[in-house]
Amino acid sequence: MDKLHILKEKTAQAQLGGGQKRIDSQHSKGKLTARERVQLLMDEGSFEEIGMLVTHRSRDFGMEKEQYLGDGVVTGYGTVNGRLVYVFSQDFTVFGGSLSETHAEKICKIMDLAMQNGAPVIGLNDSGGARIQEGVVSLGGYADIFYRNVQASGVIPQLSAIMGPCAGGAVYSPAITDFILMVEHSSYMFVTGPNVVKTVTHETVTSEELGGAQTHAQKSGVTHFACENEVACIEHVKQLLSYMPQNCEEDAPVYPYEAGNESRPALNNVIPENPNQPYDIKEVIDQVADSDSFLEVHKDYAENIVVGFARLAGRSIGIVANQPAAMAGVLDINSSKKGARFVRFCDAFNIPLLVLVDVPGFLPGTDQEWNGIITNGAKLLFALSEATVPKVTVITRKAYGGAYDVMNSKHIGADLNYAWPTAEIAVMGAKGAAEIIFKKEIAEAADHDAKWKEKEMEYTEKFANPYGAAARGFIDEVIVPDTTREKLIRGFRMLENKVARMPRKKHDNIPL
Ligand code: HXC
Repeated sequence: MDKLHILKEKTAQAQLGGGQKRIDSQHSKGKLTARERVQLLMDEGSFEEIGMLVTHRSRDFGMEKEQYLGDGVVTGYGTVNGRLVYVFSQDFTVFGGSLSETHAEKICKIMDLAMQNGAPVIGLNDSGGARIQEGVVSLGGYADIFYRNVQASGVIPQLSAIMGPCAGGAVYSPAITDFILMVEHSSYMFVTGPNVVKTVTHETVTSEELGGAQTHAQKSGVTHFACENEVACIEHVKQLLSYMPQNCEEDAPVYPYEAGNESRPALNNVIPENPNQPYDIKEVIDQVADSDSFLEVHKDYAENIVVGFARLAGRSIGIVANQPAAMAGVLDINSSKKGARFVRFCDAFNIPLLVLVDVPGFLPGTDQEWNGIITNGAKLLFALSEATVPKVTVITRKAYGGAYDVMNSKHIGADLNYAWPTAEIAVMGAKGAAEIIFKKEIAEAADHDAKWKEKEMEYTEKFANPYGAAARGFIDEVIVPDTTREKLIRGFRMLENKVARMPRKKHDNIPL
């Protein structure tokens, strides 16, 4: 009986982490504890903890007298919507969630199990970084985690929720994982904090400005989601998981779907009369995808491209779409990087890709050229070309220049290419084209402007349509917009058993 009592005591002690006072302090900051977060994430009663009784081994600075069962991280496995996941949840009440040798070992243990058994790892991060009292063993612990993150990349999904501080080299584990979610106002990520910034660059900046959720959602693109609070953050994690397979050998779960009338008449009226007038591509996405199934990723970053997960007839797809409502949907450095990263995730995890095209071209200018639009623009081209999942394209309006090639053209391996009758597929816009190829005639005309207009019309009539591309088979079918959803359901179903492989290689060399 005594022995049972000892176990009960230890379990109760572990539940308290760094003690009630620190738990209260955590709550007073509007933050949940590590255990409360795990409970929110996992299906009720499914969580099994591993390593609850682990303690640190440090004997310096009187640390031997300060022992907390679990050593600042709750680790284990359980289910989310009935599917196995592994989780680690850092406990800020124990040495500020800082990472010791043993804390790192616990995380590595569940990462190894996740790899061995093929299930996602979810990290709930809330940590003051390396356990300062431990020195280099803590740094080693971080590197052990980084190494596993890289081994696991493309094998099992890895998700990082940032729910408190995440600073110094510690940011690099989340950075390597597939998706980062940050909680607004209570989380931040930076390599060096405001004090170091002040010393080195003399800039005065708050933690929030430097590395808060909005900063990383809008400016840097480091986080894929900025969530209102911790509950919303965990809900997002669950939702994200619902689109993903357990590992790279499996397919994403299929949701129940009842076939009905798939015609979407609203699509016939989306494209404005004036080809230079913007519209919201998300209206098209909402009509095409199963209702309320679209989960936008990187919503506030590089808004000229829209990426996200959706379901089509119950099956997961990844959508990449130019957004004419932001910078006319032009491709630039950030939108290319954003698109490429998303495409590579989908391809790694067998999620078919739908690409919606309305792109006037690449963004001109010194800013873009000097910052490497060549290398960065190539990322999206590379990612779409190497993707072997089913790939389907719909050109709604513009597909000009190199951007036509990049946006999942037939030439780079798309399986089905559709165009709406409003599609304009050409080397460049009619105005610029007329100016170049009819330069002499325009110059010699009595009325330059009238001649230019006439030649512009001539070019428009000849090329600003989908029929030249359809005649060559670059477009498989010009479709009435209201049939788009039906065509896509049938097309992706036809491609369900696609087998395509890249040539044997060690790995590719995407232009980084
Ligand atoms: C040990 C730490 C700690 C750490 C916090 N604590 N960070 N203990 N190692 N890194 C302890 C505090 O002593 C305190 O203990 C408790 O956690 C809560 O910390 P507070 O400072 O009271 O909380 P708060 O005011 O909310 O501030 C949180 C914080 C701050 C911003 C994270 O604690 C902080 O700046 N910590 C140091 C951050 C840091 O420099 N880390 C090392 C970075 S280098 P008590 O007993 O009072 O509860 C690094 C390299 C990684 O991480 C490299 C990987 C390659």
